[in-house]
Amino acid sequence: MNKIFILFVLCMVAVGVSAQSTPIYLDSNAPIEQRVEDALSRMTLDEKIAVIHAQSKFSSPGVKRLGLPDFWTDDGPHGVRPDVLWDEWEQAGQTNDSCVAFPALTCLAASWNPSLARLYGRSLGEEALYRYKNMILGPGVNIYRTPLNGRNFEYMGEDPLLASAMVVPYIQGLQSNGVSACVKHFCLNNDEENRFQVNVIVSDRALHEIYLPAFEAAVKKGHTWGLMGAYNLYKNQHNCHNQYLLNDLLKRDWGYDGVVVSDWGGTHDTDQAVKNGLDMEFGSWTNGLTAGASNAYDMYYLALAYKKGIQSGKYTTRELDDKVRRVLRLFFRTTMAPKQGHGFLCSESHYEAARKIADEGIVLLQNNRGVLPLDLKQAKTVLVVGENAIKMMTVGGGSSSLKVQREISPLQGLTDAIAAMAPGVKVEYERGYVGDTTGAYNGVTTGQDLRESRSQSQLIADAVAKAKTADYVIIYGGLNKSDYQDCEGHDRKQYELPYAQDQLIEALAKANKNLIYVNISGNAVAMPWKAQVPAIVQGWFIGSEAGEALADVLTGKANPSGKLPFTWPASLQDVGAHALNAYPGKWRGAAKTGPDDWDFSKIIDEEYKEGIYVGYRWADKHKTHPLFAFGHGLSYTTFAMSNLRINKTDVPAGDSITATVTVKNTGNRAGAQVVQLYVSDPTTVVDMPVKELRGFQKVMLEPGESKDVTITIGGRAFQYWDESKGSWTTSLGKRTMLVGDAADHTPLRATFTVK
Ligand code: BGC
Repeated sequence: MNKIFILFVLCMVAVGVSAQSTPIYLDSNAPIEQRVEDALSRMTLDEKIAVIHAQSKFSSPGVKRLGLPDFWTDDGPHGVRPDVLWDEWEQAGQTNDSCVAFPALTCLAASWNPSLARLYGRSLGEEALYRYKNMILGPGVNIYRTPLNGRNFEYMGEDPLLASAMVVPYIQGLQSNGVSACVKHFCLNNDEENRFQVNVIVSDRALHEIYLPAFEAAVKKGHTWGLMGAYNLYKNQHNCHNQYLLNDLLKRDWGYDGVVVSDWGGTHDTDQAVKNGLDMEFGSWTNGLTAGASNAYDMYYLALAYKKGIQSGKYTTRELDDKVRRVLRLFFRTTMAPKQGHGFLCSESHYEAARKIADEGIVLLQNNRGVLPLDLKQAKTVLVVGENAIKMMTVGGGSSSLKVQREISPLQGLTDAIAAMAPGVKVEYERGYVGDTTGAYNGVTTGQDLRESRSQSQLIADAVAKAKTADYVIIYGGLNKSDYQDCEGHDRKQYELPYAQDQLIEALAKANKNLIYVNISGNAVAMPWKAQVPAIVQGWFIGSEAGEALADVLTGKANPSGKLPFTWPASLQDVGAHALNAYPGKWRGAAKTGPDDWDFSKIIDEEYKEGIYVGYRWADKHKTHPLFAFGHGLSYTTFAMSNLRINKTDVPAGDSITATVTVKNTGNRAGAQVVQLYVSDPTTVVDMPVKELRGFQKVMLEPGESKDVTITIGGRAFQYWDESKGSWTTSLGKRTMLVGDAADHTPLRATFTVK
């Protein structure tokens, strides 16, 4: 009896204890804020300090004592980067970290299809989950200000509205898996040269109207859980700990409740890191991605130095608790979220997603005489020329470099497609030029042997000889992911194509009238031969499905519907930053001695003298003639846009207006068109661009089909940043709405008045 009673008491105690000991922070049904407060109240000073800085190249510790696991970040933004060693940049040598490479973000932006951005984010999130990554370091939304920027391929073009519309669903898709986005690089990181030392000077208006909106949308509409500070400075403070950008704007004005992550090696000072809005410090002592002190984690600015500062009374725990709350919130959204799937890697659905995005993002820039799609019924030989037809592009470019399970080259993709569609047609290959024959990044190698012994003139002569008898000649040229090309860390040195490609193209244009040039890049390039080349395709960096997707477009299996997310200038002089000599800036004192001079006290001021006149805004104002306008992109079918009607002609301030147009597919193939709605505001109160993109919608149409497309605009569409008030102000008065299919083709007009 006694024993039974004792057992009973023990059971009750056990039940009571377990009921009491389920802490709120472990209760996945409890509201996140309660979980955060509960966990915070249980943490020691050491634990708080530990969670706000890295413990390895890409992870930070959780709180083991409390059952909160390590937190793993990884690049981003086009696929999940292969694992590096704990404390080294070298490969960890895993065998399960080969991924699907999705098209670069310029290609995604060129699809002008936000639902594809959601698919992109969701698919990437599934790959990340499989790899136990809790945060993907991306997407990037720095505005395309100069075609020399080595990192434009990782971003979403020149227009704040387009970039905003595309970044939001990417974040939502990614985070629907419980994997955090880390939108980067906040902000004004618009070129790579001197990225640690450049202090950007920009008008408040350009900052708010051009450079911030995509970040603001990511925060307010995408509800991103993470955001990465940029390497550069603004108002003389590094952006990873910047009072104005992080405390005043992001956290106070925008109400951001997520974490600010430093860029790797972007933290420079304990005091500023404590006070100016940084929450998680990564990659210190690494000078970006190259050098690095081993096991330096206690030396981090937010590690021992911070702890000592708290212990000595220099700092209170006010800032620390704010940082830790944000980190805990991140944990409860990711590693400690109620439901986390397992994810999967390299699934067919991911390859399909990559191909779909690419099919819609590739841009048909020029198609004189209807050279494309290839008419394989009439052809015997197709000659493929160029290094970019065979070179793997998923390795290189900096931190976005990947280790892929497969990457189909353009040559392979086209050869396979032609074999399937027209087995009698022969595909031949000529190298044409030699670019960069290396193929390694951070321990991942392509394994390709691209050595070539022929001279440049011999390569051209050999290509020309074969071109003379081919039915079609397709050159895959452009840039690559090597240093000083489309690559992190530096900018391109020239607008012209590298590796004597202009000579090759001109020679081939003389040899064959059915010449097609496919440009592989994330940037515009000079095209002095444009008039001599009938067909030009912008082929981006597409990733795993490069070969298939390019073949889809060339053979007509996919009808191209991509539109340029940036203006393609004829020369650098047609770009504001260059015309005004406002790039790359002026050293304040001694200039840096070379690319590896990491002296952060040397500052170069880069003044964005062109203000809001970036991209088409500049082209319109100065009446330049871009080679291809922002929003431009052809199709194999034709469309007619007509009957623009608006639902009101007087729009009270704060209200919106709805426009409807009828779009008809007047050709004989199914295809998609993008309705682009620009507004011109001729107010004289402030200087205004000739027009600005205010809305767009992509519509798919069968041959002969018509659809009404409706776009509603309001709010910011009628506002400008008033520098004297420091706020958005509605400009009242007459407006013209211009609707069309490119910035240089807006034939439909309607007028209305904002009252
Ligand atoms: C890049 C970031 C990247 C980080 C981690 C930095 O050098 O600027 O975009 O996420 O490295 O690899």
